[in-house]
Amino acid sequence: MRQIEIIRELESKRERARLGGGQKRIDAQHERGKLTARERIEVLLDAGSFEEFDMFVEHRCTNFGMEETKTPGDGCVTGHGTINGRLVFVYSQDFTVIGGSLSETNAKKICKLMDTAMKVGAPVIGINDSGGARIQEGVDSLAGFAEIFQRNVLASGVIPQISLIMGPCAGGAVYSPALTDFTVMVRGTSYMFVTGPDVVKTVTHEVVSQEDLGGADCHTQKTGVADLAFDNDIEALQQVRRLFNFLPLSNREPVPQRPTNDPADRVETSLNTLVPANPNKPYNIKELLFRVVDENDFFEIQPDYAKNIVVGFGRLEGHTVGFVANQPMYLAGCLDIDASRKAARFVRFCDAFNIPIVSFVDVPGFMPGTNQEHNGLIKHGAKLLYAYAEATVPKITVITRKSYGGAYIVMGSKHLRNDINFAWPSAEIAVMGPEGAVEIIFRGKLDSEEAVDEKVKEYREKFASPFAAASRGYLDDIIRPQNTRWRICRALTILRKKQVENPWKKHDNLPL
Ligand code: HXC
Repeated sequence: MRQIEIIRELESKRERARLGGGQKRIDAQHERGKLTARERIEVLLDAGSFEEFDMFVEHRCTNFGMEETKTPGDGCVTGHGTINGRLVFVYSQDFTVIGGSLSETNAKKICKLMDTAMKVGAPVIGINDSGGARIQEGVDSLAGFAEIFQRNVLASGVIPQISLIMGPCAGGAVYSPALTDFTVMVRGTSYMFVTGPDVVKTVTHEVVSQEDLGGADCHTQKTGVADLAFDNDIEALQQVRRLFNFLPLSNREPVPQRPTNDPADRVETSLNTLVPANPNKPYNIKELLFRVVDENDFFEIQPDYAKNIVVGFGRLEGHTVGFVANQPMYLAGCLDIDASRKAARFVRFCDAFNIPIVSFVDVPGFMPGTNQEHNGLIKHGAKLLYAYAEATVPKITVITRKSYGGAYIVMGSKHLRNDINFAWPSAEIAVMGPEGAVEIIFRGKLDSEEAVDEKVKEYREKFASPFAAASRGYLDDIIRPQNTRWRICRALTILRKKQVENPWKKHDNLPL
């Protein structure tokens, strides 16, 4: 073939690849309120930065007349580009081409991309919109999934991995997002389940819609499988850009730093009255988070799941920090199974990627009850304890109010190699709250309400202040709420070069 002919052929193939499954299917995709695979990449990446690879890959299947249905690129767009100038690898399944189904060849494209991302140390964002394993290919397609899962596991803790679910994601396909660091869904157009409504009906006789079985609300509110849900593709993609800006490119890189005009020593006098005088009255811990971070820019992870704990990213002096905070507005900020799992995973992500952890503590303890105990609160609570104890990144804790019992230990206490621990004057650090303590210590010994009140008062005076803990050095200082941002910024500055190593091991055996 002469060069001019090759170039003509090249252009025509590129044109065909860009059209995916054809205009009719693109229109159908739009009618459902979904963008196409390529449109999604355009919104996600900096304008003009996307460079596509493997555009000419075609499947090799000849079963069931498949040789007649070849599309250049084979239903998955792969390549790299930038988000705010920082490198990222992206794959985007094209539902218009054989339902975005995963073939032997398009799985190879994804694996190739992941291998390159690992070599150069840059995150991978996967956009899922697929009917799952390409049925005509049988085991070749299953093998493709397995190769991706293997790479998800090897990449875990090495490069950040983000999954966007923007259509169907069913069967074994769900396990790739489940292995990645963050999963983002779109309300109304995406769902994730291992077996769909038809199989569910056959096996368990339950009648359930796709949305109720595995829609975005289900996974962001009930299961915690997904971290965030948005109303449409564009919003989801733009928020992933925002999330990406907080993350380092790999575990070999420091956290990104963004210039800021927000002074580190900004005094927030409103914080002095955040904690109500009545210790049983709730307040919104997010007010503290928003006032402490640079420019009030806090990116919450899993905002709709286990609301009794808040986790997310912010910046201090331009550097990314991971925040974990008990939320007194829900379940009085108790630690339960869901909160422990949510925070443990977040702490482990931060530790893997060199992101310092700041904890704000107001926790009356672990959640009591048969429901919690019978569902394994011991094992799940231990996950959070494990996560804090193994973390070697800079760790700073501020106790704003209650810090009782086992939850005191777990939530970034000094005893778990925490670097710097502060308390507000309103802090109470004890084995349990005054009423419960008096009931146990003086059971059957106090004959009037006045006598009980007297002992409660005595207990409160002894433990309902930060002094007992500070006198033992379990707190480094008692700080005024208004200075919280400044004190944390200073602490982080001195900890920037912190070096602590855990003992060598093949891997740990965390309480799964
Ligand atoms: C081949 C597929 C396909 C698949 C969809 N298509 N899924 N082709 N393999 N897995 C094709 C359809 O035949 C159709 O082609 C086109 O894609 C669009 O699909 P529709 O069914 O028309 O779209 P829609 O009505 O929106 O329904 C979407 C869907 C449905 C719910 C995803 O297609 C579906 O149920 N697909 C099968 C899902 C499934 O069981 N996959 C295997 C899961 S098991 P035409 O040419 O007619 O337009 C699995 C194991 C992985 O993935 C294990 C890993 C360890």
